[in-house]
Amino acid sequence: MNKRDLLNFRDLSRDEMVRIFALATGLKRKQRQEIPHPLLARKCLAMIFEKPSLRTRVTFEAGMVQLGGHAVFLGPNEVQLGVREAPADCARSLSRWVDLITVRTFSQAILEEMAAYASVPVINALTDLSHPCQVLADCLTLIEHKGDLKGLKVAFIGDGNNMVHSWMEAAEKLPISFAVACPRGYEPNRQIEEQARKNGARITVTDSVEEAVTGADAVYTDVWASMGQEEETAERVKAFRDYQVNEKVVAMAKKDAVVMHCLPAHRGQEITHEVLEGSQSIAFDQAENRLHVQKAVMVWLLRSFKDLDDDPWITT
Ligand code: CP
Ligand code: NVA
Repeated sequence: MNKRDLLNFRDLSRDEMVRIFALATGLKRKQRQEIPHPLLARKCLAMIFEKPSLRTRVTFEAGMVQLGGHAVFLGPNEVQLGVREAPADCARSLSRWVDLITVRTFSQAILEEMAAYASVPVINALTDLSHPCQVLADCLTLIEHKGDLKGLKVAFIGDGNNMVHSWMEAAEKLPISFAVACPRGYEPNRQIEEQARKNGARITVTDSVEEAVTGADAVYTDVWASMGQEEETAERVKAFRDYQVNEKVVAMAKKDAVVMHCLPAHRGQEITHEVLEGSQSIAFDQAENRLHVQKAVMVWLLRSFKDLDDDPWITT
């Protein structure tokens, strides 16, 4: 079997996404019932993080331990991709020792170089361009709250950033529509948008919050200045001031809409404290599901679904 990676949603078929959600649901049940599920016993995960993280780092590490394996954290001062060592050399060295690599870095090109040279699977733990693990967890959370993804409208308010790109790519494969409202000059990557539309994604890009949120089943937001853009914060706070998810904006969505945030959140900027803490917010369910969905992704990458099909214990 050729090795597989998860660099963006091009690496997953619609069927594989559905199966990952099912596997994650089974693993979540086992975890909650304290039933051991050592599907990756003795496997080792190397985690390269060139940007800060709470959720991604902890969920990969805890997830690997719960699956019977081990994780090695490599922070920004250790590997220094492209500074201390070429990504290709790092990938080839790690491949001789570990079974799986996850990378959080700035450039998607560095991640792709790592994957091209690694002989073990590589997972995108966030780049400037995309964050597929977060969107997988978000979709699992929507399935839990809405029963099904079919026909859902997800409205994103804020910056046309990595989260938006991954949602657009996911919309190619999932039966949802996706609308993003962002100020002029902060629209998502045009190439990703066009590619997604060409592949059948139902996408709206607008500068009107009302247009995006009307009829939405989920109202999603993220920070106005992503990691690496800290110096632009003051300028962005001005540019995004009409793009805050507050009670007025939530009221424009469907009555039973959920409010989503990938976290970390900046209360008073992209979202109000009241909305983040309100009854419609499912932000901490999203955070919880990072654990379960990434466990499913790691199992999918290291074991075939066929292998798992022979073992129905896993999803029940
Ligand atoms: N949502 C998310 O990826 O969180 P961290 O940056 O804390 O990992
Ligand atoms: N857009 C944010 C996502 C954090 C999970 C960032 O890249 O910092």
